[in-house]
Amino acid sequence: MRQHVNPLSKNFNEIERIPSLIEMFGDSKLNLHLDIGCASGEFLFDLALVNTSWNYLGMEIREKLSKTAKEKVREKEIKNLYFVFGNANNILNDVQSKFIIKNLKSISFNFPDPWFKKRHHKRRVIQPELINMLSKSLQKGSLIFIKTDVKDLFNYMDNTISSNFNFKKIDEKDFNYSNSFNPNKVQTNREKYVIVNQLNIFEKIYIKI
Ligand SMILES: C[S@@+](CC[C@H](N)C(=O)[O-])C[C@H]1O[C@@H](n2cnc3c(N)ncnc32)[C@H](O)[C@@H]1O
Repeated sequence: MRQHVNPLSKNFNEIERIPSLIEMFGDSKLNLHLDIGCASGEFLFDLALVNTSWNYLGMEIREKLSKTAKEKVREKEIKNLYFVFGNANNILNDVQSKFIIKNLKSISFNFPDPWFKKRHHKRRVIQPELINMLSKSLQKGSLIFIKTDVKDLFNYMDNTISSNFNFKKIDEKDFNYSNSFNPNKVQTNREKYVIVNQLNIFEKIYIKI
């Protein structure tokens, strides 16, 4: 079992410089998707190589994973993928990220750390403050995808997003993936593990109205 990183540690108060979209991507006008808690970014590498009409941005709090992902992007000269290291809550709340949020078509939270103990719930990446900020800054029609194998975490995330009146639920069964950031339903590493071990997956999609 890996040791979870405490996102509330002051080590993450300082944010790395966020470059402009033109600096991040070969074509800054493509649709932009953000994956929060992307770990080593394998999911995003898989997506970026196939869906060249999308730009992908990953945020990850484990510095080593983020550094390796950044190096791999440079080595492979991938122009539609970029990684930012740090606590996504701090990054997204920083003024220098405002333009990113305005340009996002969608955000995914795939299998976030559950932080089971009640006194640790503040460490969960989805917080009412984050959802409130997103509800004000995302464009109408932007999507939020959540996915987890932990029912209690799903209920918490679903309640947090649903209680914000600017987001409406879309049933996953009624959703047409072909125009989304993930038309081929590529699976994340955790998702592959969950499927092999026949665990449940709880997921939901929300649209900013
Ligand atoms: C259980 S892993 C899931 C990784 C991947 N999304 C998947 O589905 O395979 C959760 C990831 O989120 C990262 N993480 C947790 N809190 C975060 C935060 N506040 N900001 C950015 N990344 C975070 C963790 O370091 C970890 O890599």
